[in-house]
Formats: sequence, C-alpha cells, structure tokens
Amino acid sequence: MLSPNSPVFRHNYHELDDFGRILYMVAVKPKWDARRQFFFEGCRDLAGQMYVAERMALYDAILRHRPRTCYEIGTFTGGGSTFFISAAFRDLGAGRLVTLETSRNHYLLAASFYEQYLPAHKAHTTFIHGDRPELFLPMITEDGGVDCVFLDGAAEPAQALEQFRFFEPRFRPGSVVMCHDWDLDKQEALRPHLESRRDWVQEVRLTDPDSVGFVVYVHRPDPG
Ligand SMILES: C[S@@+](CC[C@H](N)C(=O)[O-])C[C@H]1O[C@@H](n2cnc3c(N)ncnc32)[C@H](O)[C@@H]1O
Repeated sequence: MLSPNSPVFRHNYHELDDFGRILYMVAVKPKWDARRQFFFEGCRDLAGQMYVAERMALYDAILRHRPRTCYEIGTFTGGGSTFFISAAFRDLGAGRLVTLETSRNHYLLAASFYEQYLPAHKAHTTFIHGDRPELFLPMITEDGGVDCVFLDGAAEPAQALEQFRFFEPRFRPGSVVMCHDWDLDKQEALRPHLESRRDWVQEVRLTDPDSVGFVVYVHRPDPG
C-alpha cells in the first residue's frame, strides 16, 4: 500500500497512479517547500522522467556553470530534463538548450507543447528531430566549441561513448558533461572511460535511492 514515505515520492509526479496523485496532493505536498514541489511536479500536463534529486542537480549545475549552450541527447516528451534545464536558462535570463530526440512523436509532442504552453522555456530551447549529434554542428560552430552536454539517450551502451567522443575535440577547460542512468547498463561503456580520465573531475554523483545514477563532470585539462 502506498504511503507518504514510499520511495515513489523520491521519483516524480508522472510516475504516480491516480491514487498516488491524490495522496501526494493531500498528504505529501503540504509538507514540502516550494522547491521540492517544483522539482517533483515539473509541468503536471507534460510527462517526463528523472527523480527529484536528479532534476535539482541538473538545474543547479546550469546555474553554477552558466553555459552558453547545453546540448541534450534524449528529450523524450520534454517534461523531465528538458523542462528543468530550460527552466535554469529561463531563470538565468540567458543561455539555451538544444535538445535532440530520435522519436518523431516525442519530438513533435515536446516542441508543440513548449510552443503553445511554455513560451518562457521555449525562448531558451531549440528542439531537433534526429539521432546524430552531428545535427548540433551549426550551433557548435556558432559558439566556437561546446561547454555543456547532457547524455540521456538510447539504452545501447556504445551510443553514449560515441556521443561523448563526438563532443570531445570540441570541449574546452571548464566544459561540463552530465549523464543520467550512470549506475545502469546503459552507461557501462562511458562510465569506465570517464572515471579513468584525469582531465575530467567528478563534481556531483547521485546514487540509489535518490537516483539511478547521475553525474556531473567538469573538464580540467592539465595546465602543463
Ligand atoms: C531515457 S529517455 C530520456 C528521458 C528525458 N531525458 C527525461 O528526463 O524525460 C531516452 C530518450 O532518448 C531518445 N533517444 C534514443 N537514442 C537517441 C539518439 N541517438 N538521439 C536522440 N535521442 C535518442 C529515446 O527516443 C528516448 O525518448
């Protein structure tokens, strides 16, 4: 039986069934501060993934590092990471998220929802349909490099490593790489690679039960 102490209240609003949503509104939400409510609920009319702590860590990393552009792989329907990264740029009043999604239905749903209902987020967000990070090249050229990436695409482990390798020659000192599902098979190729690199410093690491694995790495190449 679901209770206010259930682990699902560390996840997000969209994972709740109807009973869970009523329980949340009546018994959980009134005990939480506005920040926790915001990161748990997101936009209630737009489904999205990621746990509360992961959403907060994503948002806080954007505020801390203030990248000019963040490149995201894996928009899904736009109510998870995309919503919180774009909220951070909205709150900073500068910067943009460029987000890539391979499913045409998800891409169309996310892009049209932001256009209609989330204009303040849309002002800082570009949606791209496709599955190759090469589609980011015009923006990367415009910026002269890459200062922030969030990898949350396919379950196929080779993909995240390939995507990291695409961005690698374009990173600069201080560039940020964030990854979701860090403790799952999905990241089993990129995880050992990044963990073995002395020029990438782990700044944030979330684990179970707050996360299925979320990391923020910062590029600190040797000055010598
Ligand atoms: C785990 S979901 C992303 C969840 C999303 N970040 C959120 O917080 O709601 C992974 C998404 O990546 C998409 N995807 C898989 N491979 C991709 C690729 N190569 N390029 C872009 N999107 C991809 C899938 O269609 C799926 O929607």
